[in-house]
Amino acid sequence: MAFDASGESGFQDWVGDVPHFPQSQAREAEAKKKLVVALDKPTVDEARKLIKRLAGNAGVFKIGLELVMSEGGLKLARDLRADGHEVFLDMKLLDIGNTIKKAVANVARSKFNFLTVHGKNRKALDAAVAGRLQALDDGAPDTLKLLAVTVLTDQSQDDLLEEGLAGWSPLDLAVHRAKMADAAGFDGVIASGREAEAIRAATRKGFIIKVPGVRPVGYAAEGQTRSVTPAEAIKAGADYVVVGRPIYNAEHPADVAKQIIDEIAQALADNRF
Ligand code: C5P
Repeated sequence: MAFDASGESGFQDWVGDVPHFPQSQAREAEAKKKLVVALDKPTVDEARKLIKRLAGNAGVFKIGLELVMSEGGLKLARDLRADGHEVFLDMKLLDIGNTIKKAVANVARSKFNFLTVHGKNRKALDAAVAGRLQALDDGAPDTLKLLAVTVLTDQSQDDLLEEGLAGWSPLDLAVHRAKMADAAGFDGVIASGREAEAIRAATRKGFIIKVPGVRPVGYAAEGQTRSVTPAEAIKAGADYVVVGRPIYNAEHPADVAKQIIDEIAQALADNRF
């Protein structure tokens, strides 16, 4: 974007040779990048309508299983990328290593920004990293960040027990899996905000933490047993917050998204003091 010396574009206040954003505007822009909106809509038409109604109040569009299984869902994801949007394919892959490797290589070739793989076993994680490397070796651009799903945000201690994971708390398991993903060369994890602080302490600098199950104050948990507010997520060290139903079920999605962006911006400001 060209610099507008009139100051009307918001690029006011020169500092030395560099145009200087008013701090609050810079923080607002940073906050917007951190909002991932889940396009959990049954059809591409409805997803497109939601994108339009968001009016730019989103940093990343997340395309999950519902949309990808609908007619044209994956094409929408590709179109959004072609239009310059950040696209997160939330596929939560889990399969034998050979299949994961080839699937991830194809996602990397399609220039998506984020992809999820279940972080349950090292073989799957290693295969995903190998798949991305294969695509890079074949000339694909280096855009894809791999994120491991630690423990789903609707899982409670009882659910882990049922899965045969007696003795594990969601927190301990999430930290264990985050360390495994870090060691495998993943870029980050998906985790509850309640586990973000412990994961931050246990992983390398720059490791991405994306927090779903985020609920602004006053919104129903709707099955997310380990939910946090946007501010709580950011204060716990989240790099991104993922929000679905509170936004797409709202009468005015852009207003709710904007409120969440403001809440993130405020939390970023609080974090710095
Ligand atoms: O509607 P809601 O805000 O609960 O949507 C959360 C989104 O984040 C959904 O698309 C869901 O699939 C995804 N997700 C999650 N928990 C995880 C990983 C992803 O809720 N651990």
